[in-house]
Amino acid sequence: MSHLLAQEDLPRHVAIIMDGNGRWAERRHKPRLFGHEAGMKAVREVIETAADLQIPYLTLYAFSQENWKRPRAEVDALMKLLQRYIRSESKKLIEKGIRVCAIGELDRLSPSSRAELDNLIAQTADNDQLIVTLALSYGGRAEIVEVARQIAKRVADGDLDPDDVDETLFKSLLYKPDLPDPDLLIRTSGELRISNFLLWQLAYTELYVTDVLWPDFDRQAFVDAIIAFQNRERRFGTVLT
Ligand code: IPE
Ligand code: IPE
Ligand code: MG
Repeated sequence: MSHLLAQEDLPRHVAIIMDGNGRWAERRHKPRLFGHEAGMKAVREVIETAADLQIPYLTLYAFSQENWKRPRAEVDALMKLLQRYIRSESKKLIEKGIRVCAIGELDRLSPSSRAELDNLIAQTADNDQLIVTLALSYGGRAEIVEVARQIAKRVADGDLDPDDVDETLFKSLLYKPDLPDPDLLIRTSGELRISNFLLWQLAYTELYVTDVLWPDFDRQAFVDAIIAFQNRERRFGTVLT
């Protein structure tokens, strides 16, 4: 197995389930929030690494729909952290030509978080170096149900024939239709599950799970994941000749 990164064979789109902040803090006998704060550094580092490697799309699972069920204090702290992250990083993201987008039920975010986020999205809208999509209040099932609802409405209004419903139409109604499917999904902290992330889009994505906890996920850990990806044989259901 090669241990070198092949610059010509990089994934176009990497999606990451950033997991393990709580356990990272627990191991240090600190409150969970301490782990979430430490995780911000890892976010910075993966964004920088993706930009340096010229990976065009990076999608980060930052807060799931199910995460709303966590204790109120943790949810509030995470919302505040999001605002702090945006405030501290905006300038650098804009300068580096990084575009920030978001997917999820953004209406559920606190009004102040939503405002900061919308502002960052608007300020980076013309950038094209790297597209960072933040999955916030995101649920893969909710995204699919929303598409189904839109299709049902169109059919009910007589604007769409059910026979014309196909994968292309379905995809065009997802939150970000222009986002290519992820080539590589990374999950930190060792959990072997999808946790309601990008259910439609992950159909043929290569999965990589590392035991590294999110706050410890650094440039080298990211490169290791990409090297593992480069050693996979992607078959997409066909037979390689
Ligand atoms: C991931 O870390 C961050 C979010 C889900 C917001 P966790 O908070 O899930 O950390 P663990 O899984 O409890 O260690
Ligand atoms: C998935 O992690 C969601 C994010 C990383 C934002 P969780 O910690 O919420 O997932 P489960 O509960 O272990 O499946
Ligand atoms: Mg977790």
